Amino acid sequence: MALDPLGAVSLQSIMALSGRLALAALRLWGPGGGRRPISLSVGAPGSFGCGGNSEKVKLSLKDVAELLRTRACRRVVVMVGAGISTPSGIPDFRSPGSGLYSNLQQYDIPYPEAIFELGFFFHNPKPFFTLAKELYPGRYRPNVTHYFLRLLHDKELLLRLYTQNIDGLERASGIPASKLVEAHGSFASATCTVCRRSFPGEDFRADVMADRVPCCPVCTGVVKPDIVFFGEPLPARFLLHVADFSLADLLLILGTSLEVEPFASLSEAVPKSVPRLLINRDLVGPFAYSPRSTDVAQLGDVVQSVERLVDLLGWTQELQDLIQRETGKLDGQDR
Ligand code: APR
Ligand code: ZN
Repeated sequence: MALDPLGAVSLQSIMALSGRLALAALRLWGPGGGRRPISLSVGAPGSFGCGGNSEKVKLSLKDVAELLRTRACRRVVVMVGAGISTPSGIPDFRSPGSGLYSNLQQYDIPYPEAIFELGFFFHNPKPFFTLAKELYPGRYRPNVTHYFLRLLHDKELLLRLYTQNIDGLERASGIPASKLVEAHGSFASATCTVCRRSFPGEDFRADVMADRVPCCPVCTGVVKPDIVFFGEPLPARFLLHVADFSLADLLLILGTSLEVEPFASLSEAVPKSVPRLLINRDLVGPFAYSPRSTDVAQLGDVVQSVERLVDLLGWTQELQDLIQRETGKLDGQDR
């Protein structure tokens, strides 16, 4: 079975196995003959070791920081949603009042999710492309949250980042595509809805910005960015979750309502011994309906929560330096 540098199973090997066999192989296979689950015996607050059988007590954000700082956890899987991009100026979908789904009156659609439904798109692609003009990569910049995730990668702690976002801000922060699963697609490529030819998304930016529906240069069919619409299959890379969530030793979930499947179910795909940290305005998904003893929920503004975690990690200066460097690069590109 082929491995990528971090010892995780490669997409090709998973694709080569049937679902159950892949799961069986993954259950029987891992670095050192199998994943040694971390069973946290948390003693005095802030001090804990791996193994031991003292009763499990509630973990804190400080404990999660300690796991990362001491590299007791170093195969971190991250799940993010639109909530991490609101600080960059992009509305999320479901926040009452400010969310996109509360502000679609201008688009003349029957109900909010229709804007991401193929049937409605073929009937009238204009509302989607009006929205696409708002979301097209290049208008917004990564924020502290994206750069914290980039720092996790730079410190070789990030096993994979699963994002539902189509704004491309994870890539813009410098996280390599190999570490990303853009589960709901992206604007990076586009496909003709008639002849199925694939094109670079950049080819149609001008059309979208000029309020023109992009048309295929070969057959004149409507060209749709490779954003996953409701009912469409997720990208094959999503299958990496079969290995990643078995290998993960820490799961971070940021800025998502965990309402859309199959992405949301990933939040329960890590073994029960693996700590899960939710950073979100409110309690969502299994953190609300079936919490685990190793769950930590840091509720409130995502930037403030991330800055608190970064402070506990002692990474504040490093993060500021990274943001300064990367902002300078983006300024240079804008000139
Ligand atoms: N700080 C903390 N939490 C925030 C912030 C913030 N600044 N802004 C938003 N949030 C939280 C919201 O409270 C909400 O719980 O982020 C979550 C965003 O949830 P949604 O708007 O539902 O976005 P998301 O979970 O990404 O939606 C999933 O739905 O329609 C589909 O394809 C679309 O990918 C999208 C999917
Ligand atoms: Zn075509």
